Amino acid sequence: TLTKFYDFKVKTMRVTKLCNSKDIAVVNGMFPGPVVHAQEGDRIVVNVTNATPFNITIHWHGVRQILSCWYDGPSYITQCPIQSGQSFTYEFTMAKQKGTFFWHAHVSWLRATVYGALIVYPKTGVPYPFKKPDKEHIIILGEYWVKDVVQLERATMDSGGAPPHADAYTINGRPGPNYNCSKNDVYKIDVVPGKTYLLRLIHAGINTESFFAIANHKLTIVEADAEYTKPFTTDRVMLGPGQTMNVLVTADQPIGRYSMAMGPYMSAKGVYFQNISSIAYFQYSGNVLNSLYLNPNLPTFNDNLVVKTVMDGLRSLNPVNVSKEIDTNLFVTVGLNVQKCQSKRPNQNCQGLNHGVMAASMNNVSFVKPKISLLEAYYKKINGSFTEDFPKVPPKFYDFVNGAPNSIPNNTQSLNGTKTIVLEYGTRVQLIFQDTGTVTTENHPIHLHGYSFYVVGYGSGNYDPKTANFNLVDPPYMNTIGVPVGGWAAIRFVADNPGVWFMHCHLDIHQSWGLSTAIIVKNGKGDLQTLPQPPADLPRC
Ligand code: C2O
Repeated sequence: TLTKFYDFKVKTMRVTKLCNSKDIAVVNGMFPGPVVHAQEGDRIVVNVTNATPFNITIHWHGVRQILSCWYDGPSYITQCPIQSGQSFTYEFTMAKQKGTFFWHAHVSWLRATVYGALIVYPKTGVPYPFKKPDKEHIIILGEYWVKDVVQLERATMDSGGAPPHADAYTINGRPGPNYNCSKNDVYKIDVVPGKTYLLRLIHAGINTESFFAIANHKLTIVEADAEYTKPFTTDRVMLGPGQTMNVLVTADQPIGRYSMAMGPYMSAKGVYFQNISSIAYFQYSGNVLNSLYLNPNLPTFNDNLVVKTVMDGLRSLNPVNVSKEIDTNLFVTVGLNVQKCQSKRPNQNCQGLNHGVMAASMNNVSFVKPKISLLEAYYKKINGSFTEDFPKVPPKFYDFVNGAPNSIPNNTQSLNGTKTIVLEYGTRVQLIFQDTGTVTTENHPIHLHGYSFYVVGYGSGNYDPKTANFNLVDPPYMNTIGVPVGGWAAIRFVADNPGVWFMHCHLDIHQSWGLSTAIIVKNGKGDLQTLPQPPADLPRC
């Protein structure tokens, strides 16, 4: 194994997109940012210098950070942000992990431009469990705003209402020809007839889940969230922000230029989104000028069936070892709320439903970010920044009819708090996520830091242990699970990685509204179960 060193200089850069010029925060002058390459078992060392006016942290999404929680990256959870002019070195090992990951800023909505791929190859001599592709490509789905995203988040929170939608969806940072001034701002891969390509799909977007398809070509899913899956062939896939997926595509169609497209999946009714797709080209070598130019059939924005079909198709490649015994059963509702307008914020305008303020919660608690990092507060036993009383019992439970709530409750107020879940080392956990359907039913991509988990079941309506059917044979091993619209999902994991781990909806607006909590996993016995002390250069708040 090797140590791979990288220098990340985060700086603003002037770009022109969608007929507008503005400064965006990027790493090393690149958008998307540089690719970090490693092999399973390698140590990765990244020195991050912040030369922007913003606060920055970098999160290594999907990396389990075994005993290295200090380097996980979510702001105010495992570290204070790297302030303007400061730097911090992240160091971690890709222990028993390989596949497609990504890194992204974990402050405000800066992930909109501060992201890049993290690709970890199998150990030397270990082949992929499928025929070696002729070539690999990284395809990052994103969302782009013409406005400054930090101001945009602030303005949205001040308004109390819903956020404006992105100005464009992007593939590798490019909107493509469906958008103004973007005819040439389009990503393209050149393909050779008969060859097979491995596309490493990464969803780095902010507030929209997305369908992805290539005109006339089949996609065979072979990996999800950096774990191999049984090959599953489909016309289109859906990824939520935070998910990655490897697909094989064979250039088996007549020579031509085919579109690869990303379009919105928005399960909620009445939600405002942009129904334009971002296009990139899958272009055959040869003379294509006068030949085919086809757009794929993306599902309509609310096609839940396609999402379920893809989810049903995700199975671990090999039989897995899911714990049949459970020590702790957690039940966590995920959903939106409307809080009463209290004008706590100076500019708050209470533009949410019923003149309230939009919020979101887990078990009816809207998470409030602490003033110092939770991990530091926990490690140094500093009182007053969090409590350990995340409610075990969910709030009022709503009945569903066809995946929609019977009625919208009048009072959907949530509590504000920094309430955490505390687990003993080694606890075998089952966690049921339930979409509340309060305010609206929608799919929530829930991400857990520090772990992958088996997705043992999911379904529509309210979770009912009597009828829930669990797959303990080959469930997928993921780090982000789309809790189905108006439904539930069940995950299992063993709490064997000490630290403070953020768990949140990967839609940033939901995170801003408080759809998150943190799980504290205590140390076990002995060095190999104990979180080491904090690094000397850990940023201060
Ligand atoms: Cu990809 Cu908490 O993040």
